[in-house]
Amino acid sequence: MSQEIVILGLETSCDDTSVAILKKSGAGIEILSHLSLNSEKVLALWGGVVPEIAAREHVKAIAPLVELALKEAKLNLKDVQQIAVTTSPGLIGALLTGLHAAKTLSWMHELPITPVPHLWAHLEAVHLTYKVEYPYLGLLVSGGNTLIVKVDGPNLIEVLGQTLDDAAGEAFDKAGKMMGLGYPAGRQIDELAQTGDENKYSFPVSYLRDRPGKMSFSGLKTSMRVFLEKKPEAPLNDVCASYQKAIVTTLLEKVQEVRKLHQLGELPIVVGGGVACNSGLRKSFQKKFPEVYFVEPKFCSDNAAMIAHWALRSPESKVSFPECLSLDAKSRLFDKPSARIP
Ligand code: KG4
Repeated sequence: MSQEIVILGLETSCDDTSVAILKKSGAGIEILSHLSLNSEKVLALWGGVVPEIAAREHVKAIAPLVELALKEAKLNLKDVQQIAVTTSPGLIGALLTGLHAAKTLSWMHELPITPVPHLWAHLEAVHLTYKVEYPYLGLLVSGGNTLIVKVDGPNLIEVLGQTLDDAAGEAFDKAGKMMGLGYPAGRQIDELAQTGDENKYSFPVSYLRDRPGKMSFSGLKTSMRVFLEKKPEAPLNDVCASYQKAIVTTLLEKVQEVRKLHQLGELPIVVGGGVACNSGLRKSFQKKFPEVYFVEPKFCSDNAAMIAHWALRSPESKVSFPECLSLDAKSRLFDKPSARIP
């Protein structure tokens, strides 16, 4: 019989402070509590993420959230056997808050800590809902990262494609800002796009045919600025639908390109990260690919359930002495074709 483990996960890589308590037993993985506090309303006052302010919001939120999560799970800290914490990538001040909270809890009860690479946790969150076999082809689309990877296990990831500049989420957020939609704007653009005509306006897709797997969204962003200068009165729903189409087309084309180039057409596709909530992306991928799984929306944006869950799937990553943990703010562009977490 497998041993029962109660794990407490912490996520503070950007603007979500999130705490989750998960239990793994012979019956599987159960989420006992999962609480998140988003600082986007505070950050919106500054027009987006200000790293220092995001870090300060985590400092305020983390201890009460841990207390509330334990209360909701009807547990004490002494019932927890392991801590999981995001250590890469993210804003360094924000990551530091989570890591120090993890180390403090570990020190109090001599608990092992699992450092979690949150990009892989985004994709692996698919297993919280679906049974997906390895290997699979993963598309990770979040606010700060856009990657196409082959996943052979929680810690066996090969990077096959990536953005050369902005992330897909950034392309949504920056365009939203230009349209006066506030921050972050992905969800609003998605909602407006649902009543718009995606063929009304033409936004550029960077095919980069000579660079398979490579994506670029910065030109698209600029095209939105130029468009709004020329057509400030254009109906926003049509603008959003047309702009979203360019992002979705880029992602669809690049996943197809990578599948073909590496002969991975047989693999299931998993899509994770905040932008995986996008309804246009979901529809297009479901139409195009025979086997595609989207991470459930509640586990798409940064959250601690996926962090604790990844740690449970990767027991070999656990470290008993937390002092050796380090942070990595920049994992956005991988230099090597294959990126394995050490
Ligand atoms: O995964 P996440 O929390 O960010 C990082 O880990 O970086 O995702 C946040 C991103 C934001 O850019 C937000 O605008 C985008 O996900 N997003 C969406 C939607 N919902 C959230 N983008 C497009 N359509 C949506 N429905």
